[in-house]
Amino acid sequence: MDNVLKNLKVMYTEEQIQSRIKEVAENIDKDYEGKELIVISVLKGAIFFTVDLVKKMKTPVILEVMQVSSYQGTQSTGNVIIKKGLDCDISGKDVLIVEDIIDTGYTLKYLKEYLQTLNPNSLKIAVLADKKERREIDVDIDYTCFEIENKFVVGYGFDIDQKYRNIPYIGYIEE
Ligand code: IMP
Ligand code: MG
Repeated sequence: MDNVLKNLKVMYTEEQIQSRIKEVAENIDKDYEGKELIVISVLKGAIFFTVDLVKKMKTPVILEVMQVSSYQGTQSTGNVIIKKGLDCDISGKDVLIVEDIIDTGYTLKYLKEYLQTLNPNSLKIAVLADKKERREIDVDIDYTCFEIENKFVVGYGFDIDQKYRNIPYIGYIEE
């Protein structure tokens, strides 16, 4: 076993994750009753959350993906680029961005402002985890599964240098 796996503590078990996602899916269904929804999953981290979320929803879903990345210099500059754009027209549509985590807020701020320029009928955000105390820029989050402490999380989509996403629970590394 490598050092990351050896030192990984469980923050949320698979069962806790699934039961919280079910609650959030029900809230989304209530808010979009009688409508259909374009769900934009933000690659790669949000894949796991997105799949479990949309399977628990009754609202008809059109699934899309986008990929963004931020330049990480010595400072968080908030420079975000789109690596994979949308291939559908969202104008006049109800759209939900599904992201794994909001940290400083730069990624979702950028994505939300960009998607807003495409004139959707509505645009909301669902996140699996929110590290509130790390926020540097304000972004309204409509659905949050877990508010978490300022710990680096791993598993269930969260990576360290692209590894460990497939760990089935949300873990953290004890400092
Ligand atoms: P933000 O722009 O600072 O809000 O960045 C959010 C992005 O940072 C997420 O999409 C993740 O890719 C990454 N990130 C932030 N915190 C963690 C963590 O604890 N584990 C893994 N990735 C993280
Ligand atoms: Mg991400």
